[in-house]
Amino acid sequence: MYLVTWSPHYSIGIDEIDGHHRHLIYLLNKIYDVFVNDTPGWDLAEIFTALTDYTRYHFSAEEELMRECQYPDLAMHKIRHDQFVKRLEAMRESCTSGKRQLSFELLTFLNTWLLSHILDADAEFGKFSAAAGKRLPA
Ligand SMILES: [Fe+2]
Repeated sequence: MYLVTWSPHYSIGIDEIDGHHRHLIYLLNKIYDVFVNDTPGWDLAEIFTALTDYTRYHFSAEEELMRECQYPDLAMHKIRHDQFVKRLEAMRESCTSGKRQLSFELLTFLNTWLLSHILDADAEFGKFSAAAGKRLPA
């Protein structure tokens, strides 16, 4: 069962970043699957940690590309990334310490944030990158 399925609609035109987004969606779906089905052999806290770590890696790579492109909205974009990481860290902490169960509300928040960020802020960067002739090879 999937929370969200990747579609070309989510592409921002930068292959490296699209690949990262696909992997984030994969991890989100995995969390959802384990949460809903309580899949044996999968540890929710472990996957949540993987999502947090990969999100940090992805944001850092995306910000580096923005620096290379001299993207004017980098500072604001980075604030959005940092706020999301803080929220994610708090959720991961709750999840690993067993203080609070993951909820559908939190999963919905993750899903909504990620997809709207891709479709809005990241897509803007994709357009800027293409217009500036900075589209990067695969
Ligand atoms: Fe972003």
